[in-house]
Amino acid sequence: MAKKTRRSSTSPVTSDADAPLTVPGLDPTTGHAVADALQMRVHALNDLQLTLKHAHWNVVGPHFIGVHEMLDPQIDGVRDMVDVLAERMSTLGVPPNGLPGALVAARTWDDYDLDRADTAAHLAALDLVYTGVIEDHRAAIEAVGDDPVTEDILIGQTGDLEQYQWFVRAHLQGTSGALVSAGAEDEVGAARKAAARKR
Ligand SMILES: [Fe+2]
Repeated sequence: MAKKTRRSSTSPVTSDADAPLTVPGLDPTTGHAVADALQMRVHALNDLQLTLKHAHWNVVGPHFIGVHEMLDPQIDGVRDMVDVLAERMSTLGVPPNGLPGALVAARTWDDYDLDRADTAAHLAALDLVYTGVIEDHRAAIEAVGDDPVTEDILIGQTGDLEQYQWFVRAHLQGTSGALVSAGAEDEVGAARKAAARKR
């Protein structure tokens, strides 16, 4: 049986055209370019909040409750960041896209690799997830340099994301400060290194 579609793809009911204006002090071309640079950050943060919730649900082991409860405030914070960036896009005159299909079509990364796993394994994998998001947020700060207001928003969010990553990393550090998952190149490799420390 064919799956029902919620709306025919042949009869769009909205336009994706940019508004003929932007914020005062920027010309529309610049304002819209700044907004366009935010779309992938909206996708990345929407993906991040779903991935963090997935880890919140699937983490197991003796440190379960600490990690499970640590993640929810991070999820709330990331959801707030998505809202701020999407509304900034609208303010600048470009309609934000928050739909899951658009996210999957546009993203340049794969889904998170872990399901049910030990706390250390999830934390090591999430450390790599945060590294990717933070690196791209820093690159976006450079990309929106024509608009210091948007730049300021991204700088503040990057600081918060870096603090969230520190919360994750503090679980993975020995007294030397080195991460037990150092050198891992992917989520599965990081998870294995973190799990091996316990033996
Ligand atoms: Fe929950």
